[in-house]
Amino acid sequence: MALGIVATCVLGLEEILEGELHALGYEDLERERGAVTFAGSWKDCWRANWRLRTANRVLVELGSWDGPDGPALAAGARELVSGRSLSDGQRGHRGGGRSRPQSGVDTGALLHPDRSFAIQATCTASQVRDSRWAALSVKDGLVDGQRDRYGRRASVERDQPDLHLRLRLHHDRASLLLDTSGEPLDRRGYREETTTAPVREQLAAACVLASGWDGRGPVVDPMCGSGTLLIEAAWIALGWAPGLLRSRWAFETLPGFDAGAFAALRREPLPAPGPDVGLFGNDLSAEAIQAARANLGRAHLLNRAVLTSGDAAGFEPPPGPGLVVVNPPHGARIGTDAERWRELGDLLKQRYRGWTAVVLAGEDRGKQIGLRPRRRIPVRNGPLDGRILVFDLF
Ligand SMILES: C[S@@+](CC[C@H](N)C(=O)[O-])C[C@H]1O[C@@H](n2cnc3c(N)ncnc32)[C@H](O)[C@@H]1O
Repeated sequence: MALGIVATCVLGLEEILEGELHALGYEDLERERGAVTFAGSWKDCWRANWRLRTANRVLVELGSWDGPDGPALAAGARELVSGRSLSDGQRGHRGGGRSRPQSGVDTGALLHPDRSFAIQATCTASQVRDSRWAALSVKDGLVDGQRDRYGRRASVERDQPDLHLRLRLHHDRASLLLDTSGEPLDRRGYREETTTAPVREQLAAACVLASGWDGRGPVVDPMCGSGTLLIEAAWIALGWAPGLLRSRWAFETLPGFDAGAFAALRREPLPAPGPDVGLFGNDLSAEAIQAARANLGRAHLLNRAVLTSGDAAGFEPPPGPGLVVVNPPHGARIGTDAERWRELGDLLKQRYRGWTAVVLAGEDRGKQIGLRPRRRIPVRNGPLDGRILVFDLF
């Protein structure tokens, strides 16, 4: 039986993430809010962890069952580990646990008492609203299942558990998922130096992928901060996997992990549409340029980068066309009034004719920029609502 694999993402990036999975050859993809699901093997799960640029985490479904109340949540969880069907009298109220939990994983073997675990829960549109209560009920059910099966239970460790479990309760349907990533996938390993408001790596990659850039021509970020957009664009152009600098994934400690197969998978070639890509970063702040230089160095890109310090308005781009990608400062503190957005629009029109432009804006500033976007994608940028705006600058 295939595994149910769930790649999670920032709200708004579902379509781009689906496109990435499609490009990896996966079919029967289902888009959900903040996730894309598909069926696959453990190897597919490792590949997704290694290759997906816009995902936060890759989860594997351990089972799902009806959970209208605490006892039903616990009963389904217990059955998942013990493998024993409970009699109706032992089930929760209102028919909880009616459907037998199923998955392609032997959850009873995985949840061996020698492995500690922790559970995080989210509840949406369900009768159980308190996520801590939901997590506690499922934890009780799992340890009862361990007692049934092994005669003893595992310890629950919040800080460094062997297994990170996630419970999603949606419309009274519980799904128990195993986090196979560990550290979120946006922790690529190149960014130690940050400016005040760095864009998250998966959002930066999404900006580049959303543009449909073919990898040709230079990449310019005239307000580059710590350089994240330049780095993500370059790794896409060069066909470098986003997992390149990571040293650890949670799946490596799971039973059945095959280090040789994972090493082979890491050697699979990726499309490299821009092997000669050049990077041009500029920022008003000398400190930001220092951070960008350090990050580009760790990302093995310093030899391709030209960094300058100054006002974006005075920055002369190299001969194009290419990709100009920018995440202007947001928030009232730095001041992003209509005038500044209009100036950015004028700058793009005048200096970057023929280029593809991507602006990651705090809000929908398309009108103020004075250009009609080819694509407008609402995204959640940390605590802020943002927009990825893609322009063809004719
Ligand atoms: C939101 S941050 C960009 C973050 C960047 N994408 C990153 O990942 O670190 C905006 C940047 O614009 C720079 N900036 C603001 N006004 C500028 C201007 N007129 N010219 C050039 N850079 C400017 C700021 O110094 C800041 O680093």
